[in-house]
Amino acid sequence: MADDTSTETVVAAEDEYIPSGEELEMSGGTPPRKAKHFWPSVKRLFGLMASEKKGMIYVVGLVVGSVVLTVIAPKVLGKAMDVVYSGVIGAGLPAGANIDDIIAGARAEGRDDFADMLATAEVVPGQGIDFTALGQIIIAVLLMYLVASMLMWAQGYILNALVMRVVYRLREDIERKINRLPLRYFDTRQRGDVMSRVTNDVDNIQQALQQAFSQLVQSALTIIGIGVMMFIVSWQLALLALIALPLSAIIAGVIGTRSQKLFKAQWKHTGEVNGHVEESFSGLDIVRAFGRDEVMLDEFDRRNESLYKASAGAQFVSGMIMPSMQFVSYLSYVLIAVAGGLKVATGQMTLGDATAFIQYSREFSQPISEMAGVANMLQSGVASAERTFELLDAEEEDPDEVQRELPPRTPGKVEFSEVSFRYAPEIPLIEKVSFTAEPGHTVAIVGPTGAGKTTLVNLVMRFYEITGGTIFLDGIDTRDLSRSDLRSHVGMVLQDAWLYEGTIADNIRYGRLGATDEEVVAAAKATMVDRFVRQLPDGYDTVIDSDSGSVSAGERQLITIARAFLADPSLLILDEATSSVDTRTEVLVQQAMAALRTDRTSFVIAHRLSTIRDAHTILVMEDGAIVEHGNHEQLLAAQGTYYRLYMSQFRGEDAEEQFTAEVLAETEAESGVQSDEAAASAGDRADESDADGESTEAPAEEGPSPRA
Ligand SMILES: Nc1ncnc2c1ncn2[C@@H]1O[C@H](COP(=O)(O)OP(=O)(O)OP(=O)(O)O)[C@@H](O)[C@H]1O
Ligand SMILES: [Mg+2]
Repeated sequence: MADDTSTETVVAAEDEYIPSGEELEMSGGTPPRKAKHFWPSVKRLFGLMASEKKGMIYVVGLVVGSVVLTVIAPKVLGKAMDVVYSGVIGAGLPAGANIDDIIAGARAEGRDDFADMLATAEVVPGQGIDFTALGQIIIAVLLMYLVASMLMWAQGYILNALVMRVVYRLREDIERKINRLPLRYFDTRQRGDVMSRVTNDVDNIQQALQQAFSQLVQSALTIIGIGVMMFIVSWQLALLALIALPLSAIIAGVIGTRSQKLFKAQWKHTGEVNGHVEESFSGLDIVRAFGRDEVMLDEFDRRNESLYKASAGAQFVSGMIMPSMQFVSYLSYVLIAVAGGLKVATGQMTLGDATAFIQYSREFSQPISEMAGVANMLQSGVASAERTFELLDAEEEDPDEVQRELPPRTPGKVEFSEVSFRYAPEIPLIEKVSFTAEPGHTVAIVGPTGAGKTTLVNLVMRFYEITGGTIFLDGIDTRDLSRSDLRSHVGMVLQDAWLYEGTIADNIRYGRLGATDEEVVAAAKATMVDRFVRQLPDGYDTVIDSDSGSVSAGERQLITIARAFLADPSLLILDEATSSVDTRTEVLVQQAMAALRTDRTSFVIAHRLSTIRDAHTILVMEDGAIVEHGNHEQLLAAQGTYYRLYMSQFRGEDAEEQFTAEVLAETEAESGVQSDEAAASAGDRADESDADGESTEAPAEEGPSPRA
């Protein structure tokens, strides 16, 4: 994979990378990463915008128009200065006199400079300031600035809409991609990292495209435009203005490097203070319980002090950049003003051009510093784009080669034929496993932790592709089915109960979206969910979030079982589905599950062997291989692995049976029905006697339990 080859360079790049103060502020406190392959990513980022070519052309066109107007405006404004100036001088000359005579007279008197100045200033003797011309020029300049702002506003409007569309499509692509990624991809990555690629990085791209793009075009064009205008007005002054540039660059380089180091220190100390605060807040009860408040406070003071020193230093040094740059800029301002003044006085330049030039030289530095800011934003945007592209380029699941389709209801005969599988190519796990699960049978899979039980059932779901052999479902190679078709026939309940943010009813209905409220409640009753839901103030409308504490771990498992119950699949997989439920409830749920399993094939993985004694077949797994198989009695008689496992868990079958019988008898007493009926339609009656049902629970747990 691309990751593997470039890991070293990434680490190196990140070590070298020192975020500047601006970056820290812009990114809201987290230093942005640098892109590994900057230009290819930029190219691809622009590729995303390809479908918006027309809009982009509009945007660039509008920016060009706006920049041209703002760049020309000072030159036109200079004309106003000329009108005023020649008006003032003209008023001082005798009316009706010939200007050429006056110039010739001045030369004769040896006042050559005055003569040259009169020649360039287009003075009409006796005529004062031409207010009509002045008014026209000022209105023209105002209009130019007005239109320029309107053009900028229009481009912003178009660009925002365009970027929104691009980002919308990007999000869609990512979502689809995630659905096509194999589980293997997520196994090998931090979930938080994948999530931040989907959320933060996309936001970052959006921001970069919206702000950086037009800003970049605008600043670049302004720099070029002003540069050109400066050379048009006076190339000598333009060269003079350019002297300031290397000077500013040196200052920015020297001070900037120092301040970056200090900002890095500030960043580190900020992280420490935040970490400390989080630690002491989240463990507030423990901190108090152990009387560590004082110590924590001292520690906080110490870290706060370091942060204070580091930020004070960083602010001081970085605070020097602006004044020094300004000093250089004033220096060049003075130089230009003196040289320009001389040129006006000697008639080499009109006063208007000189003021226009000074205006240009003041405006020149602004787009340069803007570009520096935009460059940072772009860097972080491109780094985010790169991370997003990595996700989009990740290897996908092999496409389905659909050759067969399953009927809505299928008998559910599962046959493993010489199936081999390994997560890592060099570590063998499942090697040539063969077995058959008959339709309607319950197959229990037992074995020590890490034996490969979960892996085996994951293969049935095609969460991972087998590396050898074949898995048949009712005679069809599962690889000939589409994954979605296959999975829609399988219900799965995992140890790690997954609930999404929504009501309990919604979470159960997730199994079959079209189910009615009655069906949801029936499923809940059959799986013992109804009992505790009734205790909640909001009942089925209680909102639970993805990892909420409002329902217990066992209750969460029960809800996922209700979900599978409602889905009514042809094939059922229960992987430690009741591991967090107390033994008493487990027995009850077992009854419900037995009903759920009657006409479907099911795979049950359980560590508590009591729950799988009735299974038709028990597969005993060890190190990825099936070491024993048979039913409970056969395996006990064989006195092998299963026998040892079983004996280590139970004192004796009698005690176990007694416990089960007790629990069931008690439930019958509660609901007044036969236990076998209870499974199919348990809840209908269970709720009638629910109130007293709970009160009789306690004695049962004090009774003789085999696990005591
Ligand atoms: N996604 C994965 N990537 C790589 N190795 C894995 C992955 N999942 C499981 N394994 C490894 O495969 C082996 C079998 O794991 P599996 O989850 O199937 O065990 P199990 O029998 O279900 O165990 P338990 O009883 O603890 O649930 C283990 O050694 C485990 O470390
Ligand atoms: Mg497991």
